[in-house]
Amino acid sequence: MFWDRRRVVEVTGLIVWLIVVMLSGCDVQRRKSDAELGLNPQQVAGRKIYDSHCDRCHEPYSTRGKKGPGLQGVFKHQYLSLSGLPANDDRVTDIIRGGRNEMPGYSQTLSQQDIQDLLAYMHKL
Ligand code: HEC
Repeated sequence: MFWDRRRVVEVTGLIVWLIVVMLSGCDVQRRKSDAELGLNPQQVAGRKIYDSHCDRCHEPYSTRGKKGPGLQGVFKHQYLSLSGLPANDDRVTDIIRGGRNEMPGYSQTLSQQDIQDLLAYMHKL
């Protein structure tokens, strides 16, 4: 018969494999290297700052929210998604320095140079 037991096992295996691939494709994204992202040295420095200070609340490569909104494409739109403020370096610097609601301010933690590196990286998101 066509649908003998081996065939059923094969097809089931294929379906399970497809489900696993689809699930891992959706959520568990492999972390890309700096080179794959095409980051210059300043952006690499900014990424380190992002990872140690911002990543726990903001997804860099998704618009999905964590504690704060995802920052994918943050500078690609005219306005910030949540606050509606203009998405430019000045406003984002203000937010980073002073914080906003649940977000802490970083004026004591990050230097002007750190913030510039961070912004350079965020322009690549
Ligand atoms: C403890 C969690 C937390 C950390 C850490 C944090 N943020 Fe936030 N962030 C938030 C929350 C919550 C908001 C939303 C504030 C509001 O109510 O407008 C926010 C808002 C923002 C916004 C404005 C988004 C919008 O759509 O209006 C930007 C940009 C931002 N954060 C960048 C950063 C950067 C860069 C860092 C790292 C230096 C950082 N955040 C660290 C929680 C955090």
